[in-house]
Amino acid sequence: MQRISPATRISGEICLPGDKSISHRYAMLAAIAEGKSTIHNYSTGADCHSTLGCVRSLGLAVDERGSDVTIQGRGLDGLRSATGDLDAGNSGSTMRMLSGILAAQTFDSRMVGDESLSRRPMKRIIQPLSEMGAAISAREGGFPPLEIRGKKLTPIDYTLPVASAQVKSCILFAGLYASGQTVVREPVRSRDHTEIALRQLGAEIRVERRVITLQGRPRLTGRELFVPADLSSAAFFLVAALIVPDSELTLRGVGLNPTRSALLDVLVSMGANIRILDVEERNGELVGQIQVRSSALRGGVIEKETTAALIDEIPVLAILGAASRDGLVVRDAAELRVKETDRIATVSENLKRMGIQCEEMPAGLRIPGRQGFHAAELDSFGDHRIAMAFSIAALIADGACEIRGAQAASVSFPEFFRILRQVAGQEAA
Ligand code: S3P
Repeated sequence: MQRISPATRISGEICLPGDKSISHRYAMLAAIAEGKSTIHNYSTGADCHSTLGCVRSLGLAVDERGSDVTIQGRGLDGLRSATGDLDAGNSGSTMRMLSGILAAQTFDSRMVGDESLSRRPMKRIIQPLSEMGAAISAREGGFPPLEIRGKKLTPIDYTLPVASAQVKSCILFAGLYASGQTVVREPVRSRDHTEIALRQLGAEIRVERRVITLQGRPRLTGRELFVPADLSSAAFFLVAALIVPDSELTLRGVGLNPTRSALLDVLVSMGANIRILDVEERNGELVGQIQVRSSALRGGVIEKETTAALIDEIPVLAILGAASRDGLVVRDAAELRVKETDRIATVSENLKRMGIQCEEMPAGLRIPGRQGFHAAELDSFGDHRIAMAFSIAALIADGACEIRGAQAASVSFPEFFRILRQVAGQEAA
C-alpha cells in the first residue's frame, strides 16, 4: 500500500533507469553473440531480471555490477539446456521473444510465468514459429506454460496480423537460426529496437517501410552497449509535470527512438510545453534531454497507428485526458485488454473510484475533460503501469490516496516512488 498526497509542484532534474524493451533485447542478443558484452544502464525492473535469470539458466555467465551487466556470449549455438523451468515472471517480452531463440535449440525448454502472464495470449508467437518448423505446446487456449521442443527452423515470410514488436522480435530471433532470408511484414511500424540491436551486433538486416528482411545464421559479436532512460517510465513524470501547476522538470538521457516517441508528438499537439535538447545517437538509438513545464492541455483523440505507437502510455494519458480541456478519446486499443491486466477495465475502474466519468468501449475509452479528481482507495490490480499512472492521478486529487498493490511498479521501475517523492518535494524527513 502506498499513500500519495497531492503535490503543489513537480520540479528538478532526473535521470531515469534504462529502457525495459531495449534491455531485454540486449541481454538476449548478448547471450547468443560471440564474446563479452557489457550493457550499461540495464533496466532495474523485475521483468528485465527475469530475462537475466533465463539467460543464466541457459548456462551463461552474467555479472551484475549496479546497473552494468556483463554477459559472456557463446554464439548462436552456445546455449545449454536449463535444468528446470525458465521463469519469465510477469514479463511478456521475456516469454515471447526468448521463445524465438529456444525454438531453434538442440534441446527442449519449458517456460512458465506468473498468474498474469499465464493469462496472456501466446498463439501469436506459436503460429509463426510453427510455420518455421517449431514444436511448441501451450495450455488449452494458447496460454503459458510453453513446452518448446528444439527443432531445425526454416525461414518464413510472415505478415503480422496484429502490430506487436514482441511477435516481430520473436520471429526475427528465430530467423537468426534459419538459413536463408526471414521476412516480417508489419501492419503498422512498431518499435524497432530489435532491428537496431541486430545491426549493432553484426547481423545483416534490411528495413524497407514495414518490411524487415533478415539474413539467417549471422555471426553476432558481443560489444559495449548503452541503454537510454526509458521513455515509457518518463511518461509518468512528463504527465505529472504537465498537470501539476507551477512545475518544471528536466529528464536527462531519455530514449527518443522515433518508433517510441509518438507520446511526445501527441502531448505537443495537445499544447504541452516540451523542449527536446542535446539529441545524440548511441548504439543506433536516439537519446536526449526533455524539458517540460505545466501546460494548459486541450486533450484530443488517439487512434489507429498512434494508439499502437503509445500503447504503454495510455493509462497515464487517461489521467491527463480527464484533467484536459476537451477530454480524451482512445480508439483501436483492443490490445490494451491483453496487457498485464485488461487496462481498459483497470483504468476505468480506478478513474471511477476517483469520481471521474469514463466510458469504457470494447477497444477504447472516452473520458470527458475538466474533471476534478477525488481522493480514493485505488488498486494496481498487480499491474505496474496502473500503479504508476494512478500515483500521478493522486498528485492532483483533493486529498491523499492509497494505492493497493503499489509494489507492482517494481516490474519495470523499482525507484518510481522514491523519485516521485523527490520531484514532488515530499521526501521523508
Ligand atoms: C514491447 C512491445 C509492446 C509493449 C510492451 C513491450 C516490446 O507489446 O506493450 O510493453 O518490448 O517489444 P506488444 O508487442 O505486445 O505490442
